[in-house]
Amino acid sequence: MVDDATPSRAFLTDSLAHEGYDVIDAVDGSAAIALIAADSADLVITNTLLPGIDGIEVCRRIRQDLGKNDLPVIVMTARDERLAHIKDLRVDDFVTKPIDLSELCVRVRRLLQVKAQAEQRESQTRALTTQLEGATHALLDAERLAFLGVTAGSIGHELGNVLAVLMSAGTGIETAVAAGEPVDIEEVRDLMAAIEHVREHTRSLVMIGRPARAREDTYDLAELLRETVRMLERAGRLRDVALEMRLPETETLLVHTNRVRIEQVVLNLVSNAADALAMSGKSKSLRKLQVQLAKVDDRARVSVIDNGHGIAAANIKQIFEPYFTTKPIGKGTGLGLPVCRKILNVYDSDLLVSSVEGQGARFWFDLPLVPIL
Ligand SMILES: Nc1ncnc2c1ncn2[C@@H]1O[C@H](COP(=O)(O)OP(=O)(O)OP(=O)(O)O)[C@@H](O)[C@H]1O
Ligand SMILES: [Mg+2]
Repeated sequence: MVDDATPSRAFLTDSLAHEGYDVIDAVDGSAAIALIAADSADLVITNTLLPGIDGIEVCRRIRQDLGKNDLPVIVMTARDERLAHIKDLRVDDFVTKPIDLSELCVRVRRLLQVKAQAEQRESQTRALTTQLEGATHALLDAERLAFLGVTAGSIGHELGNVLAVLMSAGTGIETAVAAGEPVDIEEVRDLMAAIEHVREHTRSLVMIGRPARAREDTYDLAELLRETVRMLERAGRLRDVALEMRLPETETLLVHTNRVRIEQVVLNLVSNAADALAMSGKSKSLRKLQVQLAKVDDRARVSVIDNGHGIAAANIKQIFEPYFTTKPIGKGTGLGLPVCRKILNVYDSDLLVSSVEGQGARFWFDLPLVPIL
């Protein structure tokens, strides 16, 4: 309450105190500014005419010097002063003299209510912002963890496949050496091929995070299919199936990709087909696995077809999700197909599937052909 006239100030102060307000009074503008600067006001009522700086100047300093734009200010004016001041938007309200106490009380209550509501909205906004930031961080953490999980799992999965080949070749060599028999050169070659595979995979790991394409070669896709199937045969993965390779007889289909990655795709697809056949309950001679290579327009199409247990319609979308597996615990990690799809996407290709449950499955992908000069 800023007023230099002692009787009216005392009357208003007492009356407002009686209404339950905590009232501090100031006898001039400078004293008022000092009190407000010390943060001890929720609302200011000021006379217009004051010794030294006037009420309108008090209001200006509250806004400009103290930066308190939300502090409500009521100015008490004589009736004829009112129009001149009302243009000053920094004043929140006016009461004209002689002061009607109930009118003043209504205005004070309303302004304090508006201020409280604004503060509440602001604190709600702050709380929501904090909540949102927290949720965003949690989401980013979850994504990072999921990415780490997928990456770690995929490494394990990949190493597991190659280790099976290494174990088999190593055991073959060990057995031959122990028996004093000549070592099968093919087994040594398998061993070296698997080592090369791991080496290339290690390079890919180093590249993770950078979407750079791995070193690319031009090669004969039929040859890659033959070699990959031979690796699996030597690892004993195709022992119980009737395998048929349908490769072009005369035409050479050249493609240009990182070779090991496509090997990885074929390895996964043929392993899956072999598993589906093993679990189909069919006798060995009826378990058909076909690996096809054909030219379709200007692309080479690789298909892996089996007549195993097939895929339930409800599962067909999920099989490409990381960790989706229908295999017993310890058998499948559910990373084979998502890894295949990721690899093919690098070469603007995709992995496609069609299946009828109980009858079998067909997986295929295309790669652009390199023209033979
Ligand atoms: N040829 C297929 N026939 C029937 N179901 C298949 C075939 N290939 C994949 N699936 C289904 O898709 C699922 C996911 O395959 P994916 O290769 O991603 O993982 P996985 O083989 O279960 O495990 P991992 O490859 O990590 O050892 C399999 O568990 C299986 O249910
Ligand atoms: Mg698999």
